[in-house]
Amino acid sequence: MKKNLNRARSQSWDAVAHWYAGWTGTNGSRYHRTLAVPLLLELLDPRAGEHIADLGCGPGILAPPVAARGARFIGVDLSPKLIAEARRNHGRVGRFHVGDATNLPRHADLPAGGFDGASFLLSIQDINPLGDAMDNAARLLKPGGRLAMVMLHPCFRVPRQSGWGWDEGRGLKFRRLDSYLTPLAVPMQSHASGTTRSYHRPLGAYAEALARAGLALTDIREVSDLPGQGDSKADRRAAGEFPLFLGLRAVKLG
Ligand SMILES: C[S@@+](CC[C@H](N)C(=O)[O-])C[C@H]1O[C@@H](n2cnc3c(N)ncnc32)[C@H](O)[C@@H]1O
Repeated sequence: MKKNLNRARSQSWDAVAHWYAGWTGTNGSRYHRTLAVPLLLELLDPRAGEHIADLGCGPGILAPPVAARGARFIGVDLSPKLIAEARRNHGRVGRFHVGDATNLPRHADLPAGGFDGASFLLSIQDINPLGDAMDNAARLLKPGGRLAMVMLHPCFRVPRQSGWGWDEGRGLKFRRLDSYLTPLAVPMQSHASGTTRSYHRPLGAYAEALARAGLALTDIREVSDLPGQGDSKADRRAAGEFPLFLGLRAVKLG
């Protein structure tokens, strides 16, 4: 399983681009606006005049908040359809290129050591191999440059291998995990025209890939899911105990 996962190449989201761009809308889904983008900005902390590269940028919804802070935004994604969408909606506040985050194109807009910050906003778990993605992000950064990632928490959210359960005897909502240490390539739900693939790796795999790329982990944020309408007391307790999102920040060593 591990061997196959390491060989698997990540896929463009072209097949689901229409559905995905509709779900996010121009300014991002509710998850983006209230949870993922604020967390990413906190970790990345883009400042006026800085250069920021977002890898797996999709429809480019990170471009406006980064540009609003006065930083210059470059987005890269494997999907030509999502890059076209990003250019259409956010071309005035960022530049966008089709490219593979595990093997970035040599382009004047993507100079080695040319960036103060790099990010993976809900994209790193759709990109494989992880080590190549970390190496490419590190190559873009200046010494001291920051890498920020927001993802589904790999310890509590393993695609098709985790979920909620109800313990009748204790009146308790619990988190169930069927596997964790085995890396997985998981085909995800089909959205009208196509499927995508997500990659589960245990938390240690992220720490190892960062270290190998010369990136020092400096911050970890574990964040609960957004509250749902009509949540019971048990729902709220469980949601507060198990963070379903994870934010990581790392710094390129000099
Ligand atoms: C869940 S979407 C997230 C998009 C965007 N960051 C957002 O939050 O809306 C994952 C994205 O990763 C992109 N992707 C997958 N593999 C990639 C790779 N090797 N290089 C660049 N982008 C990739 C897909 O095309 C897709 O747009």
